[in-house]
Amino acid sequence: MSTKTVLVTGGTGYIGSFTTLELLAAGYDVVVIDNLYNSSVEALNRIELICGKKPTFYNVDVCNESQLEEVFSKHPGIDSVIHFAALKAVGESSEIPTEYYRVNVGGTINLIRVMHNHGVKNIVFSSSATVYGDATKHEGMIPIPEHCPIGPTNPYGRTKMMIEMVIQDHCEANPDWNGALLRYFNPGGAHPSGIMGEDPLGDPYNLLPLLGQVAVGRREKIKVFGDDYDSHDGTAIRDYIHVIDLAKGHIAALDKLRNDKPGCRAWNLGTGKGSTVFDIVKAFSKAVGKDLPYEVVGRRKGDVLNLTAVPKRANEELHWKAEKSLEETCNDLWKWVSNNPQGYRQAPPKELLDA
Ligand code: NAD
Ligand code: WQD
Repeated sequence: MSTKTVLVTGGTGYIGSFTTLELLAAGYDVVVIDNLYNSSVEALNRIELICGKKPTFYNVDVCNESQLEEVFSKHPGIDSVIHFAALKAVGESSEIPTEYYRVNVGGTINLIRVMHNHGVKNIVFSSSATVYGDATKHEGMIPIPEHCPIGPTNPYGRTKMMIEMVIQDHCEANPDWNGALLRYFNPGGAHPSGIMGEDPLGDPYNLLPLLGQVAVGRREKIKVFGDDYDSHDGTAIRDYIHVIDLAKGHIAALDKLRNDKPGCRAWNLGTGKGSTVFDIVKAFSKAVGKDLPYEVVGRRKGDVLNLTAVPKRANEELHWKAEKSLEETCNDLWKWVSNNPQGYRQAPPKELLDA
């Protein structure tokens, strides 16, 4: 592999930082841009502690085209972009939808325009299983293959669907462009060293980080949203994937774009294994070593019964497979939250650094 530079937008965030780590470890040069809206630069120090390398960083907003221009001009070696930068809170997206369309859709259009000006033709995009909406409506589509009709049920999901269409259309109009639409299922976990993990600036919204807060006593209990679904224990089913497996999926997709030039294509990144909310509460309680308190409440608006991937296309075409178990996801998450109750706002424990 010739060393090429990869631009990572949103690279100080949760999935972006783990992908940056994997890129550096695989020998890529990496430039990270992020406006630090939901993350901190400390993530990059942790990357350096783990792999001995640090990406170049710019505090840049993807909505600011002239800032993007400057970065591409300074780094003519950029040959591909992995695009994570986005707003991602599903509930909030119904309260301030235009902000979601501005940042997510508008930011991506800016990025593609600037890439185009600089002759950069490969884009890996963070899409989401949320684009499928309620796949149970379609006969034979659970678990979900990529050809399942899409139909997101909230503005956040619609931004992801629109961006997929923008990339698809741009690749069709420019046959030398390649786009990977990576539809992530439910990412979780942390680095097994215990010094790198998810550290959002606001309140978490997702099940696993909320359970982490219950385990360290920052929350009294987890509210289980509905136990009247058609599953083995009545709670909803998701496909939880370790963030390191997910990060590796990006390297596989990038290699595919650079080597095979497939045009625009969607790939599910999931394990193919569904777990219910109670399965997760149980698995994480086991990692913590005590039963975590929960209370069953009503269903959350917009939730669906089952989002589990058919990951066959990524397995076969990207030669990628999720390797880590749910147990590892829970153990790594627990090591991260128990050792870093303040996230990146505190130095990592010395014994972890010495390990
Ligand atoms: P994150 O919030 O940790 O990372 C997103 C990063 O983008 C943050 O560092 C944030 O500061 C940055 N950002 C936001 N607006 C920006 C702007 N205008 N300019 C520059 N940077 C900006 O979220 P994450 O969980 O790492 O998600 C990364 C991507 O994956 C997002 O696109 C998200 O929609 C998508 N995704 C996430 C999940 C999930 O469950 N975490 C699932 C599917 C898809
Ligand atoms: C998982 C399960 C909840 C919290 C969201 C986005 C999706 C993607 C991943 C970005 C569900 C239940 C949750 C709680 C609960 N993100 N739950 N109590 O909703 O599957 O997916 O994150 O693209 O787009 O929609 O993830 O972690 O919020 O929920 O019972 O306090 O846990 O009902 O069944 P979700 P989640």
